[in-house]
Amino acid sequence: MNANEIRQKFLDFQVKKGHKIIAPAPLVLENDPTTLFTGSGMQPLLPYLLGKPHKDGTRLTDSQPSLRLQDIEDVGDPRHTTVFEMLGNWSLGDYFKEEQIRNFFEFLTKEVGLDPNKIYVTCFIGNEKYGIPKDDEAAAIWQNVFKEAGIDAKIAEIGSAENGDKRGIKPGEHIFFYDDHENWWSRGGGIETTPLGDPCGPDSEVFYDFGDDKQDVAKYGLAHPASDGARFMEIGNQVFMQYRRKDDGTFEELEKKNVDFGGGLERITAASIDSFDVFKISLLKPIVDKLEELSGKKYENNTADMRVIADHLRGAYLLAAQGLTPSNKAQGYALRRLIRRAILRALDLNIAQNFLSEVIPTISENYTELPDSILTNRNEALAVLEKEENAFRQTLNKGLKELRKITKTSDQLTGEDLFRLQDTYGFPLELSVEECFRENIKLSENYQAEFEAALNEQRERSKTASKGMFKGGLEDHGEQTVKYHTACHLMLAALQKLVDSSICQKGSNITSERVRFDFNLDHKMEEAELKAVEDQVNEWIAADLPVVHAEYEKNFAKNELKAHGQFWEKYPDTLTVYTIGDENNPVSREVCGGPHVEHTGVLGHFKIVKEESSSAGVRRIKAILE
Ligand code: ALA
Repeated sequence: MNANEIRQKFLDFQVKKGHKIIAPAPLVLENDPTTLFTGSGMQPLLPYLLGKPHKDGTRLTDSQPSLRLQDIEDVGDPRHTTVFEMLGNWSLGDYFKEEQIRNFFEFLTKEVGLDPNKIYVTCFIGNEKYGIPKDDEAAAIWQNVFKEAGIDAKIAEIGSAENGDKRGIKPGEHIFFYDDHENWWSRGGGIETTPLGDPCGPDSEVFYDFGDDKQDVAKYGLAHPASDGARFMEIGNQVFMQYRRKDDGTFEELEKKNVDFGGGLERITAASIDSFDVFKISLLKPIVDKLEELSGKKYENNTADMRVIADHLRGAYLLAAQGLTPSNKAQGYALRRLIRRAILRALDLNIAQNFLSEVIPTISENYTELPDSILTNRNEALAVLEKEENAFRQTLNKGLKELRKITKTSDQLTGEDLFRLQDTYGFPLELSVEECFRENIKLSENYQAEFEAALNEQRERSKTASKGMFKGGLEDHGEQTVKYHTACHLMLAALQKLVDSSICQKGSNITSERVRFDFNLDHKMEEAELKAVEDQVNEWIAADLPVVHAEYEKNFAKNELKAHGQFWEKYPDTLTVYTIGDENNPVSREVCGGPHVEHTGVLGHFKIVKEESSSAGVRRIKAILE
C-alpha cells in the first residue's frame, strides 16, 4: 500500500466508525497570534477541545499537512522530516480511551496489516506534584486488546527515557509507563511547560518494532519505545484531553473529555512496508530516485544529503503550493531557508545547475489527492521556487566574485576572509574551501582555527548583547517574573506613547515581586503622567492582547517592522521580536529574548508604586502587579 492509499483507508475507516471528514487547515497560518505553521492536526481544533460545539458533530477526522521547523536539524536520519501529514481523529466529549485504543489497534492490524507482535505502546506514569494519577485505565485496555490478539502483554514501569536506555525491555513486555516528558501532551510539551489555558492530558503512544538489529546500542543505549535509536518508531499518539491548565498553573478536569489522535502518515506507511527508513515510501522515494538520476550517485552512500534535499523540497513545494512566497519575514523566511539548504546540499552531490524544475514535478505528482482548498496555488508553485533558486545562485556567485577579489590583493585566504564571505555574502565555508581547492588558491595554514576564532568572537558579541539586552534583567523564569516582563514591555510602550516618543530602556531588573525600570527622561514625572501610563497599561491588559514572537533578519526587524531595540550594532543577524496586540498595528514591538506570557489578560492590575531619579537624565519606576 502506498501513502495515498493509507490516507484514504484511514479516512474511510474513521467514517465507518461514525466520524465526519473535515477539511484540513492550511499549513501556512494567517493571523494566528501563537504560531506560524500548522504543526499538528489538533491545532485548528483547539476551541472545540475546550468545549465549543463543532458544526460537524463530536466525531471528526482528517489528514492534516503539518510543518515542524524545530525538527530541521534532525532531518538526515531515517525518520525525521520537517513536513509530514498527520492522520487525525477526534472525539469531542464523545467516546474515550476504550473505543480509541480498540479502533486504532484495529486499523493498524486489520486495515494496514501490521503484525500485532511488532506493536508496543506507552502510557502515563502519573505526576504527584499536580495530582495527576497514573493511567492504569489505558494500560488495562491495552492488555485486553493484546490478549484478544493472542498476546500476553506484560507491563513495565520505565519512568524516564534515560532510565529506559539503561534498562531496555524484558521478554513479553509490550506496555510501558513513562513520565510527562514522554506521555503528557500539550502544545508546550511536558507538564511544567503546558501553556496556561490550553487543553492537555496524558497520552498513549504506539510504536512499531523494526527489529533488534536496528538499534545502535553504543550510541543510544538499550532499545525501548522512547529511545532515540532506530529499533522503535512512534506511529501514533492518542491524547486523552481531559484537563485544562488554569491561569494559576494547576490543572482542572474538563467538563467533557476528549480524544485527540494523531498519527504520522509517512511513518505508518513506512511500518506497512517494514522499512525503518521513511524515505523509502511512495511520497519520498521518487524524489530520492530523481536525485540519484541527477547526481549519478547512489542513495545508500549519500543518505543524509538526499534525505535533507528530498524533505526540504517537499516542504518547499507544499508551502509554495499554499501561496507562500520566499521573503525575509518569518514564514517566507522559513520557505527561503528550506530552498537554500536544499540547494547547498545538492552542491555536495555535485548538482550545481538549476534542478528544481526537474525535482518539483515528481513531488507535485504525488499530491494530486490533497484538496485544492489547501493547495490553492499549486500551479504557480514551481515558478515561485525557481525564481528563488535563481536569486540564491546569484548570491552564491556574488560570494564567488568576492572570493576572487580577495585573491587579487593577497596570495592566500585566511580564516577571517572565509568567515566574512560566509557572514556577509552567505557564501558557506565548505564552498570557499572547495573553490580554493579547485582553483589552486592557497589557504592560510590555520584557516580552520582562524575561522572558528572569528565565529566565536561574533558569538561572544551576540551573547553579550543577549545577556545584557535580550534577557532584560530577569531574575528567573518563574510565572510571576514572566508576567512582570510583559508588563515591562507595556509600560515602555505607554511611556513612549504618552510621555515622550524618544524614551528608551536604560536598564531593568525584574523579580517575582516587582519590576524596576530605568529610562531616559529630563524631568520628574507628574502625577497625571504616571496615572495616564498606569491607565494605559491596564487598558491593554483588559483588552487581553496576544503576545507573539517570531525570528526575523536584523535589518528587516529594524527597518520594516520598526521594532524597538537599542543595540542594533551588537545584535546577531537574526533575532527574536516580541509583538503585543494586532500584528499590523501593535501596541508594542521589541527585540527581546523572552519569555513572555501568551496574552496580556493574565497580568492582573498594574500599579506604579514609585518614580524617582536614577542618575542624570535617567528616571526609575518601580511597579507591581496586584
Ligand atoms: N496532538 C497530538 C500530537 O501532535 C496527537 O502528537
